[in-house]
Amino acid sequence: MKHFIITGASKGLGEGIALELVGPNHHIISFSRSESPQLKSLTGKNDCIIDFLLFDLKNTEEVDELMFKVFSLINTGNSEGIYLVNNAGVINPVGPSEENHPDDVENHIKINLIAPMLITSCFIKLSKHLETVKRIINISSGAAKFPYYGWSSYCTGKAGIDMFTQCIATEQQKQKYPVEIMSVAPGIIDTQMQETIRNTPEEKFIHKKKFIEYKEKGHLKSPSDAGKSIKELLLSDKFQSGKIIDLL
Ligand SMILES: NC(=O)c1ccc[n+]([C@@H]2O[C@H](COP(=O)([O-])OP(=O)(O)OC[C@H]3O[C@@H](n4cnc5c(N)ncnc54)[C@H](OP(=O)(O)O)[C@@H]3O)[C@@H](O)[C@H]2O)c1
Repeated sequence: MKHFIITGASKGLGEGIALELVGPNHHIISFSRSESPQLKSLTGKNDCIIDFLLFDLKNTEEVDELMFKVFSLINTGNSEGIYLVNNAGVINPVGPSEENHPDDVENHIKINLIAPMLITSCFIKLSKHLETVKRIINISSGAAKFPYYGWSSYCTGKAGIDMFTQCIATEQQKQKYPVEIMSVAPGIIDTQMQETIRNTPEEKFIHKKKFIEYKEKGHLKSPSDAGKSIKELLLSDKFQSGKIIDLL
């Protein structure tokens, strides 16, 4: 059985990835603050096990406990691979840095950077002794490299996740049973996050018009197409640990 841990599979890209992974001998464990009705309706069908854990990723002090629970759901004896996709993320707060509320900045960095760092570290610790395939994809963004006006939290979190990915890949080279890890910018996808971006006041996000245009011109990928690309990469021989890639 292959085990897939996906954060933020209740909607958007995470749901797209999880739905692509529904299949025989697959075990999906998802956590977010709400559940995907579509994913839930597939529980127990197609010889696929789906577990939902309700968790708010801003509670970073509880990540250890969460990951123990996750690994207690995994039968490591029959494992053909354990995979983690750190997908959950937020865009807000948006606006010039000095106008953002300190609590919102702190929560953003907890959800987009600290939680995936801690989840990854627990994943490594709890699977260290396992000889099976172990892979992580961190969902990044073009914003990791391009400084958008109004997105100081988002750009900083994503730049952090790219560097974290490279550090972990370096550390894992020395391990007996290494974890492979990549950072992936998935392209622009038609999700609630894009809707939030299009609804941001222009004085807070000066690139708003460009994002409205992407939608109007049909340039957004569907969550299922983007999910398919992430699934293929996760299971591919071409998975290159330590790399940061852009799925344009
Ligand atoms: N959409 C794009 O164009 C695009 C482009 C580049 C990168 N990305 C990245 O892709 C990833 C997914 O984004 P998306 O567009 O699919 O966004 P989305 O539609 O807003 O979905 C975000 C997911 O994250 C979860 N989440 C948010 N806050 C959470 C919290 N505090 N605790 C637990 N889960 C939380 C949400 O679940 P709940 O609300 O149920 O908690 C939801 O499942 C993000 O990392 C984003 O930065 C998106």
